[in-house]
Amino acid sequence: MKKCEESAPAKAILFGEHAVVYGHPAIAVPISHLRAYAVIQENNQSSSVNILAEDIGLEETLDKLPVHHPIRKTIDLFSSYTHRAVSPITIQIRSNIPIASGLGSGAAITIATLRALSTYFLQPLTDLEISNLAFEVEKIHHSTPSGIDNTVIAFEKPTWFIKGEKIQPFDIHNRIELLIANSNLSTPTAETVIYVREQIENFPIETESILKNIGNLTWAAKNAIAQGNIKLVGDLMAQNHQLLKSLNVSCQKLDQMVETALSAGAFGAKLSGGGRGGNIIALINTKSLNKVFNALKAIGITDIFLTTIENK
Ligand code: PMV
Repeated sequence: MKKCEESAPAKAILFGEHAVVYGHPAIAVPISHLRAYAVIQENNQSSSVNILAEDIGLEETLDKLPVHHPIRKTIDLFSSYTHRAVSPITIQIRSNIPIASGLGSGAAITIATLRALSTYFLQPLTDLEISNLAFEVEKIHHSTPSGIDNTVIAFEKPTWFIKGEKIQPFDIHNRIELLIANSNLSTPTAETVIYVREQIENFPIETESILKNIGNLTWAAKNAIAQGNIKLVGDLMAQNHQLLKSLNVSCQKLDQMVETALSAGAFGAKLSGGGRGGNIIALINTKSLNKVFNALKAIGITDIFLTTIENK
């Protein structure tokens, strides 16, 4: 029986979330050991396309899903882009990426599914085509996405991203070690993105100034990362968090986690992603790893993992 499996990684935004929606740069990295998987098998039992996604309690045939359901949209986009009708198959989706926590789980599921469809139906798609199709699905999750999630996940490389510009290779001078800690609070990204848009409408001068400062920090971080100046990268991360806090997209728990990580010796720490929940990232080294880990545990954070970012 014909069968194929494809996958896509999680991602973390190191610098620039929210500001990136308004044309400022952002830096994001793939987290390759957290992944979404899509398995496609021929379906000779029925004439329908079956979708199984146990993690989110979904077991449905494609025609029963609402037109704007992200998985239906993904399959419809694939069919119309490749001019290939999707014959009876079963698509099984699973993921070990925490949902709605700023790690790009939605984009990873979309991209794993697109890759599996492309392999199964022998319709080769480039990373750019995959990214562009996933961007259309991101609009359902994010309202007005910048495109950073689909880009970093489709290319699976550290990414310097400016909306509407060609993605640029991004060199990481020294390996970067991050602790990613989950607040276990979740707020849909669309909610904070819409909130920031309203702030721009209501308080344009103050809000645009915060976004510009985030952009400036991100430019400085690009140089600091390229030079391997980890201390400066950390300082800039902590400043980025303060700016996100003044934008009102942080929350008490994220602030507490960031302060805890910094007090325990992290070079820097910040929320990552849409905010008001999800994860913080803390920049550490071998020396500070245990202290930061234990300090976060001591305030009740249980979901913490270490990830290393380097050029492949
Ligand atoms: O998907 P998240 O929660 O990691 O957030 C994406 C980053 C934002 O800048 C808040 C939105 C966007 O589309 O860039």
